[in-house]
Amino acid sequence: MCGIVGYVGGREAAEVILDGLARLEYRGYDSAGIVVADAAPGARLDAVKRAGKLDALRSALQGSPLSGHLGLGHTRWATHGRPNDANAHPHLSEDARLAVIHNGIIENYLELKDRLQAGGHHFASETDTEVLVHLIEDHYQAAAELGRARERLVRAVRGALTEVRGAFALVVAHADHDVIVAARATSPLVIGLGEGENLLASDVPALLPYTREVVFLEDGDLAVLSRDGVEVTGFDGAPRRRDATTIDWDAEAAEKGGFDHYMLKEIYEQPVVLQNTLFGRFAGNGLDVRLELELDPRAIDRVVVTAAGTAFYAGQVGEVLIERLARLPVEVEVASEFRYRRPVVDERTLCVVVSQSGETIDTLEALREARRRGARTLAILNVKGSSISREVDDVLYIHAGPEIGVASTKAYTAMLAAFELLALYLGRGRGTLPDALAAELLQGLRELPQQVQEAIDRRASVAEVAERFKERRDYLFLGRGVNVPTAFEGALKLKEISYIHAEAYATGEMKHGPIALIDRSMPVVAVATASELYDKTVSNLQEVRAREGTVIALASDGDDGIRRHADEVLYVPAVHELLSPIVNVVPLQLLAYETALRLGRDVDRPRNLAKSVTVE
Ligand code: G6P
Repeated sequence: MCGIVGYVGGREAAEVILDGLARLEYRGYDSAGIVVADAAPGARLDAVKRAGKLDALRSALQGSPLSGHLGLGHTRWATHGRPNDANAHPHLSEDARLAVIHNGIIENYLELKDRLQAGGHHFASETDTEVLVHLIEDHYQAAAELGRARERLVRAVRGALTEVRGAFALVVAHADHDVIVAARATSPLVIGLGEGENLLASDVPALLPYTREVVFLEDGDLAVLSRDGVEVTGFDGAPRRRDATTIDWDAEAAEKGGFDHYMLKEIYEQPVVLQNTLFGRFAGNGLDVRLELELDPRAIDRVVVTAAGTAFYAGQVGEVLIERLARLPVEVEVASEFRYRRPVVDERTLCVVVSQSGETIDTLEALREARRRGARTLAILNVKGSSISREVDDVLYIHAGPEIGVASTKAYTAMLAAFELLALYLGRGRGTLPDALAAELLQGLRELPQQVQEAIDRRASVAEVAERFKERRDYLFLGRGVNVPTAFEGALKLKEISYIHAEAYATGEMKHGPIALIDRSMPVVAVATASELYDKTVSNLQEVRAREGTVIALASDGDDGIRRHADEVLYVPAVHELLSPIVNVVPLQLLAYETALRLGRDVDRPRNLAKSVTVE
């Protein structure tokens, strides 16, 4: 959600922080703020905060730059209180000596606020975060006997933590101390280890220009960062050992690399990403896959898949694949519902959670619920060291590298590839997948990166369609079978970044309602690639045309006949139907991108959305 950066070391903190915030801006961006300190006794902290994107903060700092070697910065995605200057973080104590930034929610903030106000504290914002400032201040006063000892600030933070409830990450600095104190209760925090400097952030990209050695904090960790070291304890002060991880992608991989937008770069990265997800996981016999999983395919009777957003649609493709290849019943549910429905699972149920970030709170909590109820768990994940990765029995990493564009693209196709592998693994392990089909699918997967490349290379024809229909206010997306989720993902991409209203239906459902909407003004994007149900799809397209609807068909190379049933045809390479969602989504990603571009939208940072949603 929000972006957090902290720095202590020899550099100008403000520069490191602004640079880091820019790399995290995708996490949330309705306001930004920074505080810098130089541990000068008696000094006040200097903070600058601005509503709007990071540029507003940058301009404010141009007039009066902040200098100092310790600082905190924050980009906010509003939960409590409007996105204005006052509600932006950092929040300072009344004497401007203590600063707090925070991500997540303090659930009991109202009762704490009442108590603090009754005790004489004045609040300057509407946020839940500010409660933390006053609370820590009280505990700091109570530890006055420690004077300027570092322990005083640590004890104050620890004391405040005993009083708050919620899911959050908290970062604190005080003018009298040359340390940053950070605590994690669910929301992600990662520490970057440098030489004579240490950093902290809510996500790895902010750290990469300075170091690749990082420590992921875990729930209940409290870290104290100084120039020379990092100490991790529990909230109770008991030492905790946290090993460093070396990040194997560099800062450039997290940058745009010549593309106009991260989203476009990420669409173009898909062939390479698919290679990373797939290759190295095929067995030499051409029939099996090698996944390093503890899971015994014969030890389960049922699969439930749960996820949010784009990852949920990936799960729906997974449902078809696992049912078809492994003959296991599969249910898919959005994580925000699953976690509350007292799901019926047991030790013979495999619960698959799917997440790019590994931090989506709904998905994390759904995983916890499944575990509490005794299910076996497996995660399809991108980010290593993420919260989900630490709590799940098995992880199948998609190896997509950092995904920065808020609208997910490469993570989606990589999740689909991971589901192909998982379905093959289960099918072979359970003896339900015959050699001939296994061989055909594995060969198809080997060819897939090249076919996705060809789909990307046809961007110009997608751009023409986008140009022709960019002024339409409503779109309908249709798909059948394994491509029902493709239609939903296509509609999601379009609405997320172009703000055009787009709905999706299973093609056969159109006649049961949405057909009432069809007229000349609404384009219907129909996935009509080669499939068992191709003829039925064509009949449905005729129903659209009979009502003067406009059909944009997605068709397999070589299908000339489709032209009779469509106003526009977007061709994709012909692949096995069970692999087709991976190729078919590409023109739909490009359609959303090209449309948003023509409408002047902020493609990488669409309004109201955040890349990683760590609040309910
Ligand atoms: C947010 C993002 C979506 C993403 C979803 C799940 O809503 O805007 O693009 O699909 O979260 O994220 P995850 O990291 O769990 O895949």
